[in-house]
Amino acid sequence: MDAIEVIVAKRDGHELTTDRIDWVIDAYTRGEVADEQMSALAMAILLNGMNRGEIAAWTQAMIRSGERMDWSGLDRPTADKHSTGGVGDKITLPLAPLVAACGAYVPQLSGRGLGHTGGTLDKLESIPGWRASLSNDEMLDVLRSAGAVVCAAGSGLAPADKKLYALRDVTGTVESIPLIASSIMSKKIAEGTGSLVLDVKVGSGAFMKTVEQARELAETMVALGTDAGVRTVALLTAMDRPLGLAVGNALEVEESVEVLAGGGPSDVVELTVRLAREMLEAAGIAGKDPEQALKDGSAMDHWRRMIAAQGGDPDAPLPRAAETMTVAAPASGVLTGLDAYAVGLAAWRLGAGRARKEDPVSAGAGVTLHAKPGDVVREGQPLMTLHADESARFERALEALEGGYAVGPAAGEHLPLVIDRITA
Ligand code: URA
Repeated sequence: MDAIEVIVAKRDGHELTTDRIDWVIDAYTRGEVADEQMSALAMAILLNGMNRGEIAAWTQAMIRSGERMDWSGLDRPTADKHSTGGVGDKITLPLAPLVAACGAYVPQLSGRGLGHTGGTLDKLESIPGWRASLSNDEMLDVLRSAGAVVCAAGSGLAPADKKLYALRDVTGTVESIPLIASSIMSKKIAEGTGSLVLDVKVGSGAFMKTVEQARELAETMVALGTDAGVRTVALLTAMDRPLGLAVGNALEVEESVEVLAGGGPSDVVELTVRLAREMLEAAGIAGKDPEQALKDGSAMDHWRRMIAAQGGDPDAPLPRAAETMTVAAPASGVLTGLDAYAVGLAAWRLGAGRARKEDPVSAGAGVTLHAKPGDVVREGQPLMTLHADESARFERALEALEGGYAVGPAAGEHLPLVIDRITA
């Protein structure tokens, strides 16, 4: 077999056989298929798609490119959640310890942010001392002692995806549902979780801009997980406006701790509790109430153990940006819209995100919201506070926010927080 034969088959709209898929993924991982050949194939897939059988074979081949973790020695079921990413989406932070407090083990491999959405590891790294890289043995120790572990995926997990995702990022081939679904699910299946809840975000701040696209992605991922023996459920949730009131690494940790202390913004609490219930149901754990575990301190106790077990100090003050600027309401009325993408881009320009994988992020940078769509505001009242390490960043952040919010006489339309639930 050679790479040209595989590329030409997909270019001409044919189905790729499992043999061809197995060969090309393996040869690419070993460096025998060149990046330019794989990018041509990725573009052919983006343009011509893959059917369910091809996507399943592609996913399995990427799983086989590396190790598959195994938690079968643990005495309780494992459950994980994956979000397709959004602005202010810090849900993993309160959710992982909350689900651990309710009786499941949560082994979660997470990523860093790229572009306008934040990454869970970047957020946790704003906690002084906290370490993202753990060996498999360390991961098991943290799981046993805290019930939950959130860390970086090691280089042994789906290495084909690691290489291919970096290539797609620079060749305009990220936005393909077959490639996104197989990329996410190869890592989640290789991670070895017994059950998985997918939070597929919809709206301007998400990968998927429409409910139809999100539904297709969710159905594809649920089928992949189910076929691989992982109990998988997906929720489609709103990302037309930011989640919660904090966008930015340390700011989001602070908000997550508020949720774990029984407070926090209502949308973050509602989604955290809903996802926790879904995870516990998928893991077959009954009789524990996540709302109660937020109130009685048990989720907070697991959080503190999880952070400390990874070298972090849960009591240390979080970093703060040196400079702040207030954005005031331009008129009196109702905040009719607050665009997730505009706020995410502003936070990114303030220093919370990175343009290239190797760039550092600012722990303290970001945006704090003082009103959400539907709230009544008075002219001149603070709508948001911008945080940055250098005041020179404010101008470009303000440009990002132009047209991203509006005050009018009546509330505007927005998506319900949970739009739909997809099962196998
Ligand atoms: N996240 C992934 O892990 N892979 C994709 O292709 C897109 C988002």
